Amino acid sequence: KKIIILASGNGSNFESICKKIDKNVKIECLITNNPMAQVIQKAKKYQIKTHIIDSKSINKNEYKELLIKTLEKYSSIDLIVLAGYMKIIEKEIIEKYKNKIINIHPSLLPAFKGMNAIQKAYTYGVKYTGITIHYIDENIDEGTIIEQKVIKINYKENLEYLENKIHEIEHETYTKVIEKILKTM
Ligand code: GRF
Repeated sequence: KKIIILASGNGSNFESICKKIDKNVKIECLITNNPMAQVIQKAKKYQIKTHIIDSKSINKNEYKELLIKTLEKYSSIDLIVLAGYMKIIEKEIIEKYKNKIINIHPSLLPAFKGMNAIQKAYTYGVKYTGITIHYIDENIDEGTIIEQKVIKINYKENLEYLENKIHEIEHETYTKVIEKILKTM
């Protein structure tokens, strides 16, 4: 099975997938829109080919075209995995890779969509939050939910503590879900 990972930032989920994924799954490449992203170093470490498409130096349409071209370099991709990818995936790409693009979000969707979801949940004061893995559609952080994990927030602990806990659970869960999807294909 073959997957491609898209990421824009730190890449802790990317790294956890590289470490844990079944040997029969090939990570074909990393695609990033951010030339400064830490995830690029991680890809080097795991010898994963990286494509950098600097989204700040081109317009939206040019970016989309380049992303499509880059994806097309790889044939018969089973799954496109978003791991902290901070760009919107255009409708054209979603339609082309229907039910083949998944995302991870650090809240119990549909609550706390968008950026800083962990902080939003913490400041709202919810008793429970968690993570969601879902197929993407044209709306940000929507689309069919594949898996969720719940965490009880202890407000004696600070936000940073909760963030670490959430990332830990993301790392525990994402690879397993990817493998499960690939198995049922
Ligand atoms: C994760 O919390 C993920 O849920 C969200 O972006 C963050 C990425 O973290 N979509 P990392 O780059 O994998 O460390």
